[in-house]
Amino acid sequence: MADKRSERTFIMVKPDGVQRGLVGEIMKRFENRGYKLVACKMCRPSQEHLEEHYRDLKSKPFFPGLITYMTSGPVVCMVWEGKEVVKMGRMMLGATNPLESNPGTIRGDFCIDVGRNICHGSDSVESGKRESSHWFKEGEIQEWKPAEFDWVY
Ligand code: TYD
Repeated sequence: MADKRSERTFIMVKPDGVQRGLVGEIMKRFENRGYKLVACKMCRPSQEHLEEHYRDLKSKPFFPGLITYMTSGPVVCMVWEGKEVVKMGRMMLGATNPLESNPGTIRGDFCIDVGRNICHGSDSVESGKRESSHWFKEGEIQEWKPAEFDWVY
């Protein structure tokens, strides 16, 4: 069985999150919780790249608007690692519709529109794997160990 601590999720700060200066706030919440950042970059994804990312939603009426919104500016992509990070990541983000997100969650604290919900998080371990390799090349995901604080005395 795979080590639970090696579970990974793909988290993205969407264009509105970047434009509103929420990148640090979102990263801080994952770091504070104890999760490990193993990949991070800013990019401006193409329409094709986003259509593939959201391929399961292609038939939805909101799909064209979603793609227009998601291509409206740069995004910040991350892979976070740790115990149950997929489930906890979704919990930390809050519900898809921010009006249904509890205060204390990222969406529940910072937004009100489903069409401007500032962040994305993988919804299963499988999509965590698929999305991480869709957005990052192999060499862009890092293996590293947290410090043992041996300089603290
Ligand atoms: P979805 O994958 O259902 O939710 P989540 O992002 O929480 O995994 O939908 C993807 C995105 O599509 C969602 O974050 C915002 C947008 N969306 C709309 O604009 N309108 C809608 O009615 C829904 C369900 C989603």
